Amino acid sequence: MAESIEFDLIICGSGLAGLRAAIEAARTGPKLRIGIVSKLQVMRSHSVSAEGGTAAVIFDDEGDTIESHIYDTVKGSDFLADQDVAEKLCVEMPREIYQLDHWGMPWSRRKDGRIDQRAFGGYSFPRATFASDKVGFFEMQTLYDTCQKFENIEYLNEWFATSIIHDGKRFMGITAIELSSGVFHEIRGKALIIATGGAGRLYSFSTYALSSTPDGLDMAYRAGMALKDMEFVQFHPTGILPSGILITEGARGEGGYLLNSNGERFMKRYAAKKMELAPRDIVSRSIITEINQGRGFKHETGVDCMKLDLRHIGNDVIKEKLGGIREISIKFSGVDPANEIMDVRPVCHYMMGGIHTDIQGATQLLGVWAAGEAACNSTHGSNRLGANSTSECIVWGKITGQLAVEYIQNGIPHIPWPHHLVSAEEKRIYDGIFRGSGDTNPYEIRQELTDTMNEKAYVFRNESDLIAGLKKVRQLKEQTWKHVDDKAKEYNTNFTNVMELDSMLRTAEVVLIGAINRKESRGAHARVDHPKRDDENYLHHTLAYYDSKEPIMKTFPVTITKYKPVERKY
Ligand code: FUM
Repeated sequence: MAESIEFDLIICGSGLAGLRAAIEAARTGPKLRIGIVSKLQVMRSHSVSAEGGTAAVIFDDEGDTIESHIYDTVKGSDFLADQDVAEKLCVEMPREIYQLDHWGMPWSRRKDGRIDQRAFGGYSFPRATFASDKVGFFEMQTLYDTCQKFENIEYLNEWFATSIIHDGKRFMGITAIELSSGVFHEIRGKALIIATGGAGRLYSFSTYALSSTPDGLDMAYRAGMALKDMEFVQFHPTGILPSGILITEGARGEGGYLLNSNGERFMKRYAAKKMELAPRDIVSRSIITEINQGRGFKHETGVDCMKLDLRHIGNDVIKEKLGGIREISIKFSGVDPANEIMDVRPVCHYMMGGIHTDIQGATQLLGVWAAGEAACNSTHGSNRLGANSTSECIVWGKITGQLAVEYIQNGIPHIPWPHHLVSAEEKRIYDGIFRGSGDTNPYEIRQELTDTMNEKAYVFRNESDLIAGLKKVRQLKEQTWKHVDDKAKEYNTNFTNVMELDSMLRTAEVVLIGAINRKESRGAHARVDHPKRDDENYLHHTLAYYDSKEPIMKTFPVTITKYKPVERKY
């Protein structure tokens, strides 16, 4: 029998979007009870790993403009961004930079004391606001500190949310397991914000924390909300070998070069003007093309790679602005970038797709919003520009926090609590997973799944690989991995792993089907068998709806306000 808790607003996820939503909700509705439910401790949320910047126009006196930020975002998206949404991001963002500043964010500064900005890929102006190369860590700390000022925010840290409870039309609550005790709970609520981040651990070579699995996305998907544009997975050009940990684009923003085995800055062949600061989809494709044409390097582990050279930037700049990645490189790769060249390779870094929302972050279920990487409000289309992600978290954290509270304050009709749904969920989890049986090792299935995604749905894709990938994922799904051999209740990581795997297998299927169906190359989705963008047939979003047999796929129009799609040149 589930234990019961009640909040007014439930926020699932404690990263940048979740915390920003909590602050806005707490100040809009000071009498409401707000519960942040997170499978982690707050400061272990993956947002702390954001490195290089948060995009915003703050130097309008030096020639930057909101219009230019909007256009760069839309062009970077390969024209799949909803242009009204991109506009909202860029218009809202400047005041958020100063809001964070007022809350204590230690932005890096120019000599004259003004907040500093650096160059990032795909922008016409250096507009990535930074705090050395630990932007996410400092933003998280700033927001978490600010949350402490509100007595109406409560934290359920290390609680694994399992499902959304609703009556088909309206949100009613969630179910969750308190990981420290293993006790199953129903958490009743009037509104929900899903801010559970991205699902980049679908890939084994990934910049994401191991916890970045699609539990939040899958919870929405199973509750009838569509997942949108999941085929667009961003590969950041510079994951360091062998681990894949992120080496920030800020390294190239501060002047770093990418070199091939002829010692050439090969980006001149692909983006003569922007060079290493072209958008990520273009730089990642260029690296893999160089490797495929025999101009790459072999890392000592046998993996193909390219070189990133920061030596000419100088010790002082590296120390002041890139201290974090220097430490990462020394610790995890044995290379000091001040003196040696780094081995890098495109690595899974971001999912443009997520839970389908409108421009306000509202999902298709009344009372549920989604914000940050878990959401797909279509700001980024098929390719996100670096530094626009932390911005998106902050803007839509704020918007959804405010709207969810207004919705609650307008009054919610009483609906009898559906005890039967909670019992069914308890059965699904405990009979279906915890007490399940089988001889397949779930950790091996997880490894095979993530390796399959790496091999079959990486930077360049083709129909036969994608179909083989889908076949493999479906075979893995059929195996007997739904069992937990360790029956301990407290902090049972075997149990958590199987629940994560359950969501990963369903979501991987959506990524692959979306990629098979999209027979064109656009942004991060590069098909060697369909190398051109095809606006006539594919200038639309992809929607996937859950069905017990296989996802039901639909399309959804792109909002174009001002900018006609043109060929991208950098
Ligand atoms: O390269 C980076 O620092 C990553 C930034 C981002 O993904 O926005």
